[in-house]
Amino acid sequence: MKLKGKTVIITGGAQGIGAATARRFADEGALVLIGDMNQDAGLAAVAEMRKEKGRIVHFHQLNVTDKASIKTFIDHALTLFNGRIDVLINNAGITRDNFLSKMPEEDYDAVMNVNAKGPFLMMRALAPPMKQQEGGGAIINISSIVARMGNKGQVNYIASKSAVEGMTRAVALEYAPTVRINAIAPGFIETSMTAGIPEEVTKKFFARIPLGRFGKPDEIADAALYLATASYMTGHVLCVNGGMHLA
Ligand SMILES: NC(=O)c1ccc[n+]([C@@H]2O[C@H](COP(=O)([O-])OP(=O)(O)OC[C@H]3O[C@@H](n4cnc5c(N)ncnc54)[C@H](O)[C@@H]3O)[C@@H](O)[C@H]2O)c1
Repeated sequence: MKLKGKTVIITGGAQGIGAATARRFADEGALVLIGDMNQDAGLAAVAEMRKEKGRIVHFHQLNVTDKASIKTFIDHALTLFNGRIDVLINNAGITRDNFLSKMPEEDYDAVMNVNAKGPFLMMRALAPPMKQQEGGGAIINISSIVARMGNKGQVNYIASKSAVEGMTRAVALEYAPTVRINAIAPGFIETSMTAGIPEEVTKKFFARIPLGRFGKPDEIADAALYLATASYMTGHVLCVNGGMHLA
C-alpha cells in the first residue's frame, strides 16, 4: 500500500499503459481518476478494475487538447478528491506515422497537440495548485525511446516526445522543491499502439532488444509507481526498454 489515500489522475487511461498504471496504483491504495477521449473503453476499463475488491477507480471523459474539457475534468477531480491531486500522469498519446515528404501538416499538428500540448496544458493547470498544497505533488510524463533514438516515419511523434522530455526538465526546475516532475521513456510495449506492426518488422525489433521481447504495460506501471514515490528524483527520464538503448 505504497500510495494509500493518494489521489492520482491518469490521462489516456482507458487502455494500454494508462489502464495498467491505473490498476497498479489502485492496488497500492491510491484513489484513481482516469481521463480519456474514449468514454466506452474508459467505462469498461473501470468496471473491469472494480471487480477486484477495494480498488477505487473512476472515469471521466477528457480531451487533453481541449482547454474546456481539461477544466471540466479537473473540476470533477477536485470535487471527487476533496480539493487535492497528489499525482498527475500525462499518458495520453497518439501516432500518425509517415515519412517526412508524405506527412500531412494536419498529422504533424494532431500528434503535437495530443502528445506535447496536452501535457503542457495539464501541467499548467495542475502544477501551481500542487505547489500550494501541503506535501506538494508529483507529475509523470510518458515519453518514448524514440525521442532519443530516432525512428524513420515518426518525425511528428519524435518531435512531440522530445518536447515532453524538454518540458519535464523545464517544469522540474520551475516547481522544485515542492513538485517533482519526471518522465518515463518506454521502449516498444505490447499495446494497441504496437499491435499493427507487421510480424517481420517485430522480429527485426526483437533482434535489437537485449531482453528479446516487447515490454508489458505492467512493466511501465512499475516504473510509474517508482517515480510517484521517488522522493529524491526530479527532472529525470527513466528509460524502460529491455536494453534497446544499448543497441
Ligand atoms: N506502446 C508503446 O510501444 C509505447 C512506447 C513508448 C511510448 N508510448 C506512449 O505511452 C502512452 C500510452 O500509449 P499506449 O501504448 O498505452 O497507447 P494506447 O493507444 O493503447 O492508449 C492511448 C490512450 O490515449 C487516449 N487518447 C488519445 N487521444 C486522447 C486525447 N486527446 N485526450 C485524452 N485521451 C486520449 C486513447 O483513447 C487511448 O485510450 C502514449 O503517450 C504513448 O505515446 C507507448
